[in-house]
Amino acid sequence: MRVLIIGRGGREHALVWKVAQSKHVSDIFVAPGNDGMSKMATCIDIAETAVEQLVAFAKEQTIDLTIVGPESSLSVGVVDAFEAAGLAIFGPTQAAAKIEASKQYAKDLMAKYNIPTATYEVFTDYEAALAYIETTGVPIVIKADGLAAGKGVVVATTFDQAQSALQAMLVDDAFGEAGTRVVIEECLVGEEFSFMAFVRGTDVYPMVLSQDHKRAYDGDSGPNTGGMGAYSDVPQISEVDRQQALETIVKRMAHALVSEGTPFTGFLYGGCMLTNNGVKTIEFNARFGDPETEIILPRLKSDLVEIIQSLLANQTPIIEWSEAQSIGVCIAGKGYPGDVTTMGMPIGGLTDLEQCDDIQVFHAGTKWDGHQWCVNGGRAAYVVASADTLLEAQQKVAQALDRIEQKTVFWRNDIGYKAIAHQKK
Ligand SMILES: Nc1ncnc2c1ncn2[C@@H]1O[C@H](COP(=O)(O)OP(=O)(O)O)[C@@H](O)[C@H]1O
Ligand SMILES: [Mg+2]
Repeated sequence: MRVLIIGRGGREHALVWKVAQSKHVSDIFVAPGNDGMSKMATCIDIAETAVEQLVAFAKEQTIDLTIVGPESSLSVGVVDAFEAAGLAIFGPTQAAAKIEASKQYAKDLMAKYNIPTATYEVFTDYEAALAYIETTGVPIVIKADGLAAGKGVVVATTFDQAQSALQAMLVDDAFGEAGTRVVIEECLVGEEFSFMAFVRGTDVYPMVLSQDHKRAYDGDSGPNTGGMGAYSDVPQISEVDRQQALETIVKRMAHALVSEGTPFTGFLYGGCMLTNNGVKTIEFNARFGDPETEIILPRLKSDLVEIIQSLLANQTPIIEWSEAQSIGVCIAGKGYPGDVTTMGMPIGGLTDLEQCDDIQVFHAGTKWDGHQWCVNGGRAAYVVASADTLLEAQQKVAQALDRIEQKTVFWRNDIGYKAIAHQKK
């Protein structure tokens, strides 16, 4: 089979790595990909959102299967276009992907189908929104309705923060079209976890749980980022709570989308929180999480291409998970999540680290200058290890990271700490 993967980050590198292990696959293409994947796949210079060019490429190159990474492709209807052209593709249609592209749409569906989530109101008018938060008080959560690359949510603990978030979104158009409407939500408290599943209509095949660390520095301090690391499994979440999330969040949304006439096919992502009042939904994503993919796929024993082929053919897939636990740590350019001050500069030791046994490196924002890896984005690469316990996995990653010079990059040393403390108990 000839497989095309759409996207350019660590998630797509992990997809390439997993697809390359399939005995059914002869060639892998990535659009646009990155230098880190180019040993395993052919990178082609087509953007994720250039739908017509992607369709033309898939036809010309007789691609047998396309797998979509990012939400940006889904929200412009890449799946609809491929299906219209008779090409096999794994991902939700534009209509189904709206559960990620519009937070209001997702919340309205959750309300309609009784999917547990924070209470909310929607506003387009600044004065009305302000009057509302005067009645609710803080803490309060303010979300831009549209896609904002993970930067459109403010958990405001003071009234000033809430007000400036509303000002930025509704008055100053900081998020453009995506922020002309805001969802204002009750602030929930609890343990977050990611619940992803392979979905086709009402058929839901859960993946193992994972959790990412969004804050930049150790102890979950510092600014929010796209994800400084992740791990799986999540032992703090009991089997009872996992079942509850599966039934009331992930399965209920799959059923809701069928009832709405827009069935979901693809990787469905439920962002969950275990609160004192049970599990609640934080958000839905219409695709594989990043960085969750980088630590989940190493635990998948089955052939990913076979799973996808089964789903697309309306058959029951065989999905087996490894008991091994995995941890992935992000190597980030200095300055991230602000302006990276080391763009283009070498990441000393990364080529050396890639030689480590039993360690996977998934590239996100790196560039190969002909001799060495260089910083080419905030999140440069993820270093991933699996072991019998999370503690061992953490130690393996730490040992590998000892080879990296800290001149141009930084990373967190405590990814998985809550789970490790829990396992020690
Ligand atoms: N209702 C809420 N209560 C408390 N924290 C929240 C709430 N909604 C979102 N958050 C926090 O903000 C983060 C980002 O929100 P999310 O809805 O996942 O948006 P996105 O991933 O699109 O930026 C969440 O991971 C969570 O930590
Ligand atoms: Mg999120």
